[in-house]
Amino acid sequence: MKFPSPLLPICVPICALITSLSITAQSAEIIRAPYLQLSTESSQTIVWRTDGKIKPEVRIGTSIEALAAAKSLVIEKEEVELYQGIKKKQAKKGTVQYEVQLSELEPDTTYYYAVYQDGERITPADKTYHFKTHPKRGEKIASRFWIVGDSGTGGADQIRVHDGMKKWLGEKTLDGYIHVGDMAYGSGTDPEFSEKFFPIYETTLRNTTCWASMGNHEGFTSSGKTGIGPYYDAYVLPKNAEAGGTPSGTEAYYSFDYGNVHFICLNSHDLDRKPTATMAQWLKADLEKTKADFLVAFFHHPPYTKGSHDSDDELRLVEMREHIMPILESGGVDAVFTGHSHIYERSMLIDGAYQTPSTNQGVVLDDGNGNPREGGDGSYKKSGGLTPNNGTIQAVVGHGGTKLRRKDNHVLMSQVILMHGSVMLETKEDELSITMVDSYGNEQDHCVIKKAGKVEQSIVQNPRAPKLIEDPRLFAVKPEKLPKIYDSIISQHTEWDYLAGEDQHAEKGWMALNYDTSNDKNWKKGMAGFGYSDEDDNTILDMENKFTVVYTRKEFTVDKISSLREFGLAIKYDDGFIAYLNGVQVVRSLVDFGAGDEAKGFNVHEAKNYEFFSLSNYKKLLREGKNVLAIEGHNADIGSSDFTLDAFLVNTKAVARKKK
Ligand SMILES: [Fe+2]
Repeated sequence: MKFPSPLLPICVPICALITSLSITAQSAEIIRAPYLQLSTESSQTIVWRTDGKIKPEVRIGTSIEALAAAKSLVIEKEEVELYQGIKKKQAKKGTVQYEVQLSELEPDTTYYYAVYQDGERITPADKTYHFKTHPKRGEKIASRFWIVGDSGTGGADQIRVHDGMKKWLGEKTLDGYIHVGDMAYGSGTDPEFSEKFFPIYETTLRNTTCWASMGNHEGFTSSGKTGIGPYYDAYVLPKNAEAGGTPSGTEAYYSFDYGNVHFICLNSHDLDRKPTATMAQWLKADLEKTKADFLVAFFHHPPYTKGSHDSDDELRLVEMREHIMPILESGGVDAVFTGHSHIYERSMLIDGAYQTPSTNQGVVLDDGNGNPREGGDGSYKKSGGLTPNNGTIQAVVGHGGTKLRRKDNHVLMSQVILMHGSVMLETKEDELSITMVDSYGNEQDHCVIKKAGKVEQSIVQNPRAPKLIEDPRLFAVKPEKLPKIYDSIISQHTEWDYLAGEDQHAEKGWMALNYDTSNDKNWKKGMAGFGYSDEDDNTILDMENKFTVVYTRKEFTVDKISSLREFGLAIKYDDGFIAYLNGVQVVRSLVDFGAGDEAKGFNVHEAKNYEFFSLSNYKKLLREGKNVLAIEGHNADIGSSDFTLDAFLVNTKAVARKKK
């Protein structure tokens, strides 16, 4: 998003009369919107880019009305001081990056801010431009961090995950944002950061500091060894323990504190992962020093996964497990967040699982789901404070926006969820919780570690297998073109039973073969198709601004199942539908989750031609004699200008299958 200088339209004639330097300044536009970096108890860095030099100033205040100059250090980097690789991978000529470090701030305090150029405000007077300094180190204060991985496609799923988080968040606020890497596909170039990271998360980044870990995709253009590249240009990370911890001397790995939580970021990509190497030595020193109550680590390559990568086979993953996990667990780590594998996998409470290949024997301390809510197995229990080898939760969060994949269920996982989303990490009093939030703001997993007193752990023999949840959209059947020659099993534009009306929903089991619509007076009879306003309907429904779901049923007879060839559903629809054959769901199109009045995740689809969904794989659901096809049609929006549900059932010759 660009913020044109508000002065520009009225200023041009006046500017033409003054110096060329001022003209340059007045015409500069923000090309990377302001975002927060490196927050501490007493300081905050704000970064942005313009397409020319300006005379920058950041004003702050504890109310939006009273902003004033603050003590600050301004670092100005021209494009030649940023990444210098292949030209198309660099920042555009003329780019200037401003990094303003505000100091002498009060801890745990919310400040509003605005960027000024030559005394004129260039960010809007908007409350969302604010930051909150960290609480005093060690303070027992609640915290909430958003954690995302493998998101940087710039696509719809990445945007939906961000929107889902905001929906879940509502009026609550974030204390930080952790990205576990692969934030700018395909090579983490400067333009890719500008297109696929900053604009997507802009409304969060302007008031939430992002603490990053480098992924292999950023590793194509950025180097952990030199600390040079678009990734290192984008972030200002604490190499000198500015926010707590032990100085690492590098932005490639670092630590920081938020109250009584100690966070450690490691580089799993391009630095030596051996226990004797510099990174592991720093890690040991950092762990020895921390006095936190909670310990959280994050890096890109997961020690345990069977998603799109396999932790039993790949060197970086094996080394993080064999070399780094023993150090983290002897330091009492509570939770480890990683990405790389495009899936959500969350482990049971484990310790000492360093073998290759991974096994679940002798390493599981609690095989429950860690959910303290009704119907859950109860929180995981650990000793208060940091106790060596007292149990770790591993969470792979590579489900932030790119294509999902699962090879298998990893034996140490409690939950394996093939669905886009992100994670909320919260600490409060003596509890640390992990919540997986999907693209719609729904919670798909929730577990809690309760840390109190002294807990002696014991090994669970033969722990249970993971629970698997898969996003039904990933397995959606793709429609084909309706073949020209077919016999009708249910004729086109014949009479169906239907239920349609404001607050009218079919009762449970309405799609079953033995359901009798005559017991409910709201069921009526009408000719297909059903709908309004697009002049292709035989039964006109008064739906607009009233209701969005229509339930239809049609009984049909099959004399000989063996006589069916390629049989399937021919349907014209707007916007989505779910079809059931003898009570079993056989096709779901553009209704992502749920059914009836609990359906969610609609997509817009115009009824143009009949689409063909083969049901040949469902022949076993049929019986010779009476059968029933039931279809619920959904309109994406109650105010939509049209709706169509027009279906029939055909038997035809084999059609060529399209590859998915
Ligand atoms: Fe990756």
